[in-house]
Amino acid sequence: MAETETNPLRRPLPDGIVPEGEVTRTENRWIAIVLGVLGVMMAVIVVTGVTNALHPPSNVEIIDPTTLHLGGEFAESNLGTAAEPDGSVTVRLIAEQYNFVPECVRVPADTPVKFRLTSADVIHGFLLVGTNVNTMVIPGFVAEVRTRFNALGDYRMPCHEFCGVGHQGMWAHVNVVPKGQFPHLSTTERTSCVQQ
Ligand code: CUA
Repeated sequence: MAETETNPLRRPLPDGIVPEGEVTRTENRWIAIVLGVLGVMMAVIVVTGVTNALHPPSNVEIIDPTTLHLGGEFAESNLGTAAEPDGSVTVRLIAEQYNFVPECVRVPADTPVKFRLTSADVIHGFLLVGTNVNTMVIPGFVAEVRTRFNALGDYRMPCHEFCGVGHQGMWAHVNVVPKGQFPHLSTTERTSCVQQ
Protein backbone atom coordinates (compact mmCIF):
# COMPACT_ATOMS: atom_id res chain seq x y z
CA MET A 1 0.00 0.00 0.00
CA ALA A 2 1.18 3.50 -0.80
CA GLU A 3 0.47 4.75 2.74
CA THR A 4 3.11 2.40 4.05
CA GLU A 5 5.87 3.92 1.83
CA THR A 6 8.59 5.24 4.14
CA ASN A 7 10.39 7.53 1.67
CA PRO A 8 8.39 10.83 1.83
CA LEU A 9 9.33 11.70 -1.77
CA ARG A 10 7.62 8.56 -3.05
CA ARG A 11 4.45 8.93 -1.05
CA PRO A 12 1.41 9.81 -3.25
CA LEU A 13 0.48 13.50 -3.20
CA PRO A 14 -2.58 14.50 -1.16
CA ASP A 15 -5.69 15.40 -3.13
CA GLY A 16 -5.50 18.78 -4.87
CA ILE A 17 -1.71 18.88 -5.18
CA VAL A 18 -0.54 18.66 -8.79
CA PRO A 19 2.71 16.83 -9.56
CA GLU A 20 5.59 19.08 -10.59
CA GLY A 21 5.94 17.50 -14.02
CA GLU A 22 2.38 18.37 -14.88
CA VAL A 23 2.81 21.96 -13.59
CA THR A 24 5.81 22.38 -15.90
CA ARG A 25 3.93 20.95 -18.87
CA THR A 26 0.99 23.30 -18.24
CA GLU A 27 3.28 26.32 -17.89
CA ASN A 28 5.08 25.47 -21.11
CA ARG A 29 1.76 25.12 -22.90
CA TRP A 30 0.68 28.59 -21.72
CA ILE A 31 4.01 30.14 -22.67
CA ALA A 32 3.53 28.72 -26.17
CA ILE A 33 -0.03 30.13 -26.32
CA VAL A 34 1.10 33.59 -25.14
CA LEU A 35 3.96 33.63 -27.66
CA GLY A 36 1.47 32.59 -30.36
CA VAL A 37 -0.90 35.45 -29.42
CA LEU A 38 2.01 37.94 -29.42
CA GLY A 39 3.07 36.65 -32.83
CA VAL A 40 -0.46 37.15 -34.21
CA MET A 41 -0.64 40.68 -32.78
CA MET A 42 2.76 41.61 -34.24
CA ALA A 43 1.64 40.22 -37.60
CA VAL A 44 -1.57 42.31 -37.43
CA ILE A 45 0.48 45.46 -36.72
CA VAL A 46 2.84 44.81 -39.61
CA VAL A 47 0.12 43.80 -42.09
CA THR A 48 -2.21 46.74 -41.28
CA GLY A 49 0.75 49.13 -41.32
CA VAL A 50 1.77 47.99 -44.79
CA THR A 51 -1.67 47.58 -46.35
CA ASN A 52 -3.78 50.30 -44.66
CA ALA A 53 -1.19 52.88 -43.57
CA LEU A 54 -2.19 52.24 -39.94
CA HIS A 55 0.69 53.37 -37.79
CA PRO A 56 1.32 55.31 -34.60
CA PRO A 57 1.37 59.06 -35.27
CA SER A 58 4.95 60.26 -35.52
CA ASN A 59 4.35 63.98 -35.26
CA VAL A 60 5.92 65.62 -32.20
CA GLU A 61 4.96 69.23 -31.84
CA ILE A 62 4.37 71.07 -28.62
CA ILE A 63 1.85 73.79 -27.80
CA ASP A 64 0.78 75.59 -24.64
CA PRO A 65 -2.70 74.21 -23.75
CA THR A 66 -3.48 77.19 -21.49
CA THR A 67 -3.30 79.79 -24.27
CA LEU A 68 -5.01 77.97 -27.16
CA HIS A 69 -7.96 80.38 -27.14
CA LEU A 70 -5.77 83.50 -27.13
CA GLY A 71 -4.58 83.20 -30.71
CA GLY A 72 -2.38 81.20 -33.02
CA GLU A 73 -3.27 78.11 -34.96
CA PHE A 74 -6.00 76.86 -32.61
CA ALA A 75 -7.81 80.15 -32.05
CA GLU A 76 -11.56 79.65 -32.47
CA SER A 77 -11.72 81.46 -35.82
CA ASN A 78 -9.09 79.12 -37.23
CA LEU A 79 -10.79 75.84 -36.29
CA GLY A 80 -12.54 73.56 -38.76
CA THR A 81 -11.63 72.80 -42.35
CA ALA A 82 -9.25 75.00 -44.33
CA ALA A 83 -8.37 74.55 -48.01
CA GLU A 84 -4.65 74.51 -48.81
CA PRO A 85 -3.12 75.96 -51.98
CA ASP A 86 -2.08 72.46 -53.13
CA GLY A 87 -5.70 71.28 -53.19
CA SER A 88 -5.56 69.34 -49.92
CA VAL A 89 -7.45 70.35 -46.79
CA THR A 90 -6.39 70.76 -43.18
CA VAL A 91 -8.86 70.22 -40.36
CA ARG A 92 -8.05 71.80 -37.00
CA LEU A 93 -9.88 70.60 -33.91
CA ILE A 94 -9.68 71.09 -30.18
CA ALA A 95 -10.69 68.23 -27.91
CA GLU A 96 -11.94 69.28 -24.50
CA GLN A 97 -14.16 67.84 -21.79
CA TYR A 98 -16.58 66.79 -23.34
CA ASN A 99 -16.63 68.04 -26.92
CA PHE A 100 -14.67 68.31 -30.07
CA VAL A 101 -14.62 71.88 -31.37
CA PRO A 102 -16.11 72.08 -33.94
CA GLU A 103 -18.15 68.94 -33.40
CA CYS A 104 -18.92 68.48 -37.08
CA VAL A 105 -16.45 69.10 -39.89
CA ARG A 106 -16.97 68.89 -43.62
CA VAL A 107 -14.31 67.60 -45.99
CA PRO A 108 -14.21 66.78 -49.72
CA ALA A 109 -13.94 63.16 -50.88
CA ASP A 110 -10.87 61.85 -52.73
CA THR A 111 -8.70 64.62 -51.33
CA PRO A 112 -5.73 64.44 -48.96
CA VAL A 113 -6.98 65.47 -45.51
CA LYS A 114 -4.69 66.43 -42.66
CA PHE A 115 -6.20 66.47 -39.17
CA ARG A 116 -4.44 68.59 -36.58
CA LEU A 117 -5.75 68.28 -33.05
CA THR A 118 -4.82 69.33 -29.59
CA SER A 119 -6.41 69.11 -26.17
CA ALA A 120 -7.35 71.98 -23.89
CA ASP A 121 -7.46 69.87 -20.74
CA VAL A 122 -6.87 66.12 -20.40
CA ILE A 123 -5.99 63.24 -22.74
CA HIS A 124 -8.70 62.47 -25.30
CA GLY A 125 -8.78 60.08 -28.22
CA PHE A 126 -9.69 60.63 -31.85
CA LEU A 127 -10.88 57.73 -33.97
CA LEU A 128 -12.59 57.57 -37.33
CA VAL A 129 -14.14 54.16 -37.78
CA GLY A 130 -13.19 52.48 -41.05
CA THR A 131 -10.19 54.73 -41.70
CA ASN A 132 -6.54 54.84 -40.66
CA VAL A 133 -7.29 57.71 -38.25
CA ASN A 134 -6.72 56.78 -34.63
CA THR A 135 -4.68 58.94 -32.29
CA MET A 136 -4.44 60.16 -28.74
CA VAL A 137 -4.93 63.87 -28.22
CA ILE A 138 -2.62 64.96 -25.44
CA PRO A 139 -2.60 68.41 -23.84
CA GLY A 140 0.64 70.17 -24.70
CA PHE A 141 1.05 68.36 -28.02
CA VAL A 142 -0.39 68.64 -31.52
CA ALA A 143 -1.58 65.33 -32.95
CA GLU A 144 -1.41 65.16 -36.74
CA VAL A 145 -2.98 62.42 -38.87
CA ARG A 146 -3.29 62.24 -42.63
CA THR A 147 -6.01 60.39 -44.47
CA ARG A 148 -8.30 60.47 -47.50
CA PHE A 149 -11.99 59.62 -47.68
CA ASN A 150 -13.23 57.60 -50.63
CA ALA A 151 -16.81 57.07 -49.45
CA LEU A 152 -19.28 59.91 -49.02
CA GLY A 153 -21.36 60.34 -45.90
CA ASP A 154 -20.94 60.79 -42.18
CA TYR A 155 -18.12 59.30 -40.19
CA ARG A 156 -18.70 59.34 -36.46
CA MET A 157 -15.74 60.15 -34.29
CA PRO A 158 -15.91 59.01 -30.69
CA CYS A 159 -13.41 60.02 -28.05
CA HIS A 160 -11.78 56.72 -27.17
CA GLU A 161 -9.65 57.68 -24.20
CA PHE A 162 -11.50 57.80 -20.90
CA CYS A 163 -11.49 61.51 -20.03
CA GLY A 164 -14.02 61.86 -17.23
CA VAL A 165 -17.72 61.49 -16.44
CA GLY A 166 -18.85 62.85 -19.81
CA HIS A 167 -16.53 60.63 -21.85
CA GLN A 168 -19.20 58.38 -23.34
CA GLY A 169 -21.05 61.41 -24.71
CA MET A 170 -18.01 62.88 -26.42
CA TRP A 171 -18.80 62.33 -30.10
CA ALA A 172 -18.37 64.39 -33.20
CA HIS A 173 -18.54 63.64 -36.88
CA VAL A 174 -16.95 64.20 -40.23
CA ASN A 175 -19.22 64.85 -43.19
CA VAL A 176 -17.67 63.84 -46.52
CA VAL A 177 -19.13 65.63 -49.56
CA PRO A 178 -18.34 65.14 -53.27
CA LYS A 179 -15.06 66.72 -54.30
CA GLY A 180 -16.74 68.87 -56.97
CA GLN A 181 -19.38 70.17 -54.57
CA PHE A 182 -17.00 71.31 -51.83
CA PRO A 183 -15.67 74.49 -53.51
CA HIS A 184 -19.24 75.66 -54.18
CA LEU A 185 -20.25 75.65 -50.52
CA SER A 186 -20.23 78.88 -48.56
CA THR A 187 -17.20 79.55 -46.35
CA THR A 188 -19.23 78.70 -43.25
CA GLU A 189 -20.45 75.43 -44.77
CA ARG A 190 -16.93 74.46 -45.75
CA THR A 191 -15.40 75.27 -42.38
CA SER A 192 -17.77 73.11 -40.33
CA CYS A 193 -21.17 71.45 -40.42
CA VAL A 194 -22.23 72.49 -36.95
CA GLN A 195 -25.87 73.60 -37.00
CA GLN A 196 -25.85 77.38 -36.92
CU1 CUA B 1 -12.70 62.84 -24.32
CU2 CUA B 1 -13.06 60.61 -23.63
